[in-house]
Amino acid sequence: MTGPITYKNNRLCVEEVDVATLAKEVGTPFYCYSTAVIRNAYQGLVKAINHPKVKIHYALKACSNIAVIRTLAKEGAGMDIVSIGEFKRCIEAKVDPANIVFSGVGKTRDEIKAALKAGIGQFNVESLPEIDVIADVAQELKLTAPVALRINPEVGAGGHEKISTGKEEDKFGINWGQVESTYAHMASRKGLKAVGVTMHIGSQITEVQPFADAIVKMEDMVKRLRAAGHNIERVSLGGGLGISYRGEEVPVAAYGKLIHEAANRLGCAIELEPGRHLVGEAGILVTKVLYIKHGTAKDFMVVDAAMNDLIRPTLYEAHHPIEPVILKKDAPMGVYDVVGPVCETGDYLALDRQIPTQHADDLIALLCAGAYGATMASAYNSRALVPEILVSGGKFAIIRPRLTIEQQLAWENIPNWL
Ligand code: LLP
Repeated sequence: MTGPITYKNNRLCVEEVDVATLAKEVGTPFYCYSTAVIRNAYQGLVKAINHPKVKIHYALKACSNIAVIRTLAKEGAGMDIVSIGEFKRCIEAKVDPANIVFSGVGKTRDEIKAALKAGIGQFNVESLPEIDVIADVAQELKLTAPVALRINPEVGAGGHEKISTGKEEDKFGINWGQVESTYAHMASRKGLKAVGVTMHIGSQITEVQPFADAIVKMEDMVKRLRAAGHNIERVSLGGGLGISYRGEEVPVAAYGKLIHEAANRLGCAIELEPGRHLVGEAGILVTKVLYIKHGTAKDFMVVDAAMNDLIRPTLYEAHHPIEPVILKKDAPMGVYDVVGPVCETGDYLALDRQIPTQHADDLIALLCAGAYGATMASAYNSRALVPEILVSGGKFAIIRPRLTIEQQLAWENIPNWL
């Protein structure tokens, strides 16, 4: 490993912070993020694109802790949200509402109202009825809603079928054949300002070609809409750029060039909505080995993190590299299923993984866990919700403490008829 998350004297460190020491202080399991990796990812993308008209909105569903939002906002990122909850996180992180775009197929009337009142920068709309609801709410409030139409370029891409969004049969965006009529409707509605078009084809894409294919289609549609008299002033090309889970090359430079050239050709403001690429490699999930169980068919490493803390392996067959927190010299390799305490066969963090032999109380780290890790965690099996730590240089902060079972029980009550 190289970069800000690496070994120093055989001990895993996030920047200058020793992970084993951190584990003593905060207990396990926990997520830990490196500020430097987040900043490098953001600035690396900005540099690769190198275009004044391209604006990055961080898709904060990937990692929505307010300290992470603030980190990226300070770098200059706007935000891409999908709920009023995420909107409130942005406000808490001092993001200007004008720099926020609201995506998602199912915005409620209340969410639309709150976002409009607060001065949201843009709604990315996904259906005809949604257009009408936004127009009605805007008129009620005597406001104008800036709206961009999400089109479905019918280019499927992504690391797994559950995270591919741009195919004809997906629920996202307006089908290709319906775009022009829908856009015309949107542009004609009182209360709305039609500002442009958006797309998002999928997630964990590590090739440039699908983006290039979708951009060709997008440009074709923009031409047609302009020819029909619409003023297309913003085009969002979505998120989706991947990270290196398995050592694959992520074509940041080629992607940047593609976006740069598209921005030149389109001649208007270009927006991007990356999530994973900005935070994925910045995060690790640290967990303690509870037991090594030698079965007849397999060896199991039972750890204190589980599918409720990191659902990606079982939900998407995702691969997260696993490394010991302390490297022991000459430790022989073992092959383990790394499993958690949750009572489900699907509760695993890795299957048949080759890892240096570990013993009870040893610590291991799952890498590339910054995106869709903590945000997708739950308290299933009445487990405490996993905490998050942010490191910057030699400093660390607990940016979300462990949500204990006592705190969770305090949310619940027994009705008086019981
Ligand atoms: N824009 C829209 C409209 C999206 O739906 C998404 C992600 C993004 C941007 C950001 O995509 P990214 O740059 O992060 O690929 N939970 C899954 C990923 C789900 C992605 C959902 N949409 C996972 O853990 O792989």
